[in-house]
Amino acid sequence: MNDDLTNGSVSWESPSNIAIVKYWGKHGFQYPNNASISLTLSNAVTRTTINYRPKKEDGEVSIDFSFEGTNNAAFQVKIEKYLALLAKQYLPFITGFHLEIDSRNTFPHSSGIASSASSMSALALGLCDIEAMIAGIPYNTQQFLAKASTLARIGSGSASRSVYPHAAMWGKHPDIAGSSDEFAIGVEERLHPVFKSFHDDILIISADKKSVSSTAGHALMEDNPYSDSRYRQANDRTRQLYDILSGGDVDAFGKLAEDEALTLHALMMCSDPSYILMEEGSLSAIKAVRSFRAETKLPLYFTLDAGPNIHLLYPDEIKDSVAGFVDNELRSLCSDGTILKDHVGNGPKKTG
Ligand code: PMV
Repeated sequence: MNDDLTNGSVSWESPSNIAIVKYWGKHGFQYPNNASISLTLSNAVTRTTINYRPKKEDGEVSIDFSFEGTNNAAFQVKIEKYLALLAKQYLPFITGFHLEIDSRNTFPHSSGIASSASSMSALALGLCDIEAMIAGIPYNTQQFLAKASTLARIGSGSASRSVYPHAAMWGKHPDIAGSSDEFAIGVEERLHPVFKSFHDDILIISADKKSVSSTAGHALMEDNPYSDSRYRQANDRTRQLYDILSGGDVDAFGKLAEDEALTLHALMMCSDPSYILMEEGSLSAIKAVRSFRAETKLPLYFTLDAGPNIHLLYPDEIKDSVAGFVDNELRSLCSDGTILKDHVGNGPKKTG
């Protein structure tokens, strides 16, 4: 470390992402059982500021954590544990500093939208940034993002993919050079422009807390009778999607996205215990999207995370036709008529 350690502050903004090939099942130190690919979102972001100052005694993790401007004891305990893990193996500077962490989301906490991808990636980026400054590490951009992605992964697997613009893949795949279980890689340079124009309108079918946490959901894959074939399928689909992303075939993309979402939900239905994560409104929305597509021949597709909300995926060129359909036929299915409009974005930003 440099001798002239001073107080300082960093702020990062990092987005959520939506998986097209889903990560579901993990092992060891938060390693995925299959590769996954996501689109990086733009409007659903977490903004995190970390104020740091050296403390006299090196040893324990010392933080004050506030969420949306209010001290939050439950989050604080979670973040302390996470930082203690990082301090041991990845960021030894942590125990020499007191950190004041302030985290805010642009999307409502009770919207049923998982915030772990945006929040853990924003925190990881801030921590990496501090490390680079105080330890004088001359990371190039790729090294910096790989380290931030590694740290984000340890907080929440899907967060590893949020540090890259437009699209990212995570998980070692024999056909994809540079892919790793440790960190995600950006796939932006091979992305056909049509995918950079993609919208994601998130239909909030229910804003209730999820009936099964993703930690418990991943664990259920251990005894799922279909797990081995699922991991093979996910790796095959990762390879297919990797090619589709450069080729620009929107219909192949959409078919794969829907197959993946329904597979994820089917896996949960046949786990023990079994979970049905969709609501009636989710199914109605899925059927309406399929009818719309059959009638109009327009490329409107859906995906879901491990919950009831529907993500509508479509290229910018059909946005006017989709807007009318969404307002007329889908908004009434949403809790309080809530739809969060998002789109593929440029990835995280350092804001201070
Ligand atoms: O990052 P986690 O542990 O919350 O798992 C996320 C799992 C899914 O969102 C369902 C799929 C994915 O790849 O993001």
